[in-house]
Amino acid sequence: MAKAKPAQQSSFGKWAVIGAVLVALYALCSYLDANVDKFFAMTPDALNAAVQTSLTTARMAGQEKNSTYVVDTLLGNLVKTYPDLDLQTHFRNKDEWVFNNAGGAMGSMFIIHASITEYLIIFGSAVGTEGHTGRHTADDYFHILTGQQRCYAAGDLSPLIYNPGDVNLMERGVVRQYMMEGETWALEYAAGWIPPMLPFGLADMMSSTLDYVSFYHTCRITAREMIKNLLRGKI
Ligand SMILES: *[C@@H]1O[C@H](CO)[C@@H](O)[C@H](O)[C@H]1NC(C)=O
Repeated sequence: MAKAKPAQQSSFGKWAVIGAVLVALYALCSYLDANVDKFFAMTPDALNAAVQTSLTTARMAGQEKNSTYVVDTLLGNLVKTYPDLDLQTHFRNKDEWVFNNAGGAMGSMFIIHASITEYLIIFGSAVGTEGHTGRHTADDYFHILTGQQRCYAAGDLSPLIYNPGDVNLMERGVVRQYMMEGETWALEYAAGWIPPMLPFGLADMMSSTLDYVSFYHTCRITAREMIKNLLRGKI
């Protein structure tokens, strides 16, 4: 009996500490979440300007349907826009491309930038695809470069249609069915908390395609870029 009371007190103390830690963690997460935009290095406007400039260049050269030409020109413009970001530009190196299966859609991607709060990729397919956009913790700007994307939300009976130069903005939490008609490539910019998006991007690979080689390379390239940027002080 004499021992029961101190034991109860210490267990109460333990729960008080755990409670305080949880409250502090919640406060920290809420604070970081409310200020996530302070970590962003890129802006949708500057990215859009780079896209429009490269599409104009491609049109003037009669190459607006040439995805290689458009991507090449765009990467050059992005480096000029963000010379300090150490963007990845070797899109002609096939080792830097990976297949991505997510939400039933299949495409391939080239990572230009990946950090904790932003990613910038070339995403698309040479043959087209269709699937679920996923429900994300970041705002997603999908700039069409070549081809066409169509999408809709449940309840809409007609699609939204995006052509080269158009931006499909998928706000955090918005969910749609989308399709890309034939050869379609886009510059995809996501700004928000990137790590919670990764399970969606990798789930189909683990549960459906069992393409562990693509899984390995996706993790390898993403981790390499995120760590590189962390070491450069980019969250
Ligand atoms: C497309 O653009 C690339 C890069 O500029 C070029 O090498 C290729 O010849 C072009 N293809 C066509 C069909 O013009």
